[in-house]
Amino acid sequence: MNHRHCPIINLSAAFDPLDLSDPFPRLAQARREQPVFYSPDIDYWGITRYDDIKAIFRDHETYTAANTITPIAPFSAAVKEMLAIGDYTPEPVLSNNVPPGHTRIRTLVNRLFTPRRMKNFAPAIRDIAERGVERIAERSPLDIVAELTYEYPAYVLFHVLGVPEADVPQVKAWAGNRIKLYYGRPSAAEQVEMTKNLVPFWRYVVDLVAEKVREPRDDLTSDLIRLRAGDDAVLTLNEIASCMITLLVAGHETTTAQINNALLHLLTEREHWEALCAAPDGIAAALEEMMRYDPSVCAWRRLAARVSTIAGVEIPAGANLLLMLHSANRDEAVFPEPDLIVTGRDNLKDHLAFGYGIHYCVGAPLARLEMRILLEALTRVLPEMRLLPGQALEYTLNISFRGPASLWVAW
Ligand code: HEM
Repeated sequence: MNHRHCPIINLSAAFDPLDLSDPFPRLAQARREQPVFYSPDIDYWGITRYDDIKAIFRDHETYTAANTITPIAPFSAAVKEMLAIGDYTPEPVLSNNVPPGHTRIRTLVNRLFTPRRMKNFAPAIRDIAERGVERIAERSPLDIVAELTYEYPAYVLFHVLGVPEADVPQVKAWAGNRIKLYYGRPSAAEQVEMTKNLVPFWRYVVDLVAEKVREPRDDLTSDLIRLRAGDDAVLTLNEIASCMITLLVAGHETTTAQINNALLHLLTEREHWEALCAAPDGIAAALEEMMRYDPSVCAWRRLAARVSTIAGVEIPAGANLLLMLHSANRDEAVFPEPDLIVTGRDNLKDHLAFGYGIHYCVGAPLARLEMRILLEALTRVLPEMRLLPGQALEYTLNISFRGPASLWVAW
């Protein structure tokens, strides 16, 4: 069948927003034929064109971020009770907060993640990357996700935040669990099991903050506590813990998946990998294009505060919007030949992989830095790296976080 001439009668029936295995052909069709569509399955309006998504990001009063951490499968009464008993009290601070609370907290957090501050961390990040690459250098073939990229961003983040390195495996497991619980479609029984893992994650974060209050160090968590200066009007300890649990998910799951997406495509179209091995100063631009081509946060959310019209479709007040960032980034109206990897695009940085506007990713300078440093180490030490042919790629069932669960490589 010729898809160009096959109108989408009901995109929601044809498109499962949680199945991230191969969304691009459907999204291209949606951009052409039904750029705004309703998905009753999850009660979200899918938005697929670049200009519409950017306008939504820009108008944060009509479209708030209040629903970005709302579970896709609503919590059961049993789960709510477990959370209450476990004294689980995270509150909106950054991603799902609205002004003026968001502005107050974001202004403080911005002071931690400046590009200059990140640059000071570069030697330590390089050390983490080089140790990781050396550890795998003699072990071809291997799953580079399991052996390197799953944990690398967490080691970087923990160094920056002052979280004990020994806790990386535990926090990675908790973070993966939290993503499946909030962004996936767990059954009632699975929800209960996942909640058993969520409560200890929160307790861990609360204890971590208490420890930093007692003994501040040279790290960003301690800096946030210093900025608070004991004043709840500036920032409460519960708000700091809420920031920490957000960072301890957003700060590494995203980067792991983005590195995996980049490695997958650069090694699949290997001339790009070879070009980077020959001229590593092209790595930053190549990574930027990878963020356009296959962004790890493939969709993000907004809540319509009032009635509005998007691409001619009336959107009711209270509607949930699913902004398809991976579709915006392949919008042919903005990026010519969007399905091609072109590292020299004029508008390379116009992609929406880090969002846009008041919630623009606070960790973008760190993510860019750590991804570049890892790619520099990999292209230098393992230029012969290749993808093992014929491997099946698996993607976790969820609405937002896209990256292959394993990548077998050899050299
Ligand atoms: C390649 C890796 C990353 C990607 C693709 C990514 C993507 C995103 C996206 C799409 C948003 C939503 C922006 C919006 O609503 O307009 C976001 C927000 C955020 N990201 Fe990232 N992110 C990455 C890495 C990081 C890192 C390393 C950190 C922390 C160190 C981080 C922390 C945050 C936080 C705290 C927010 C919420 C900001 C706010 O609402 O004000 N992210 N990110």
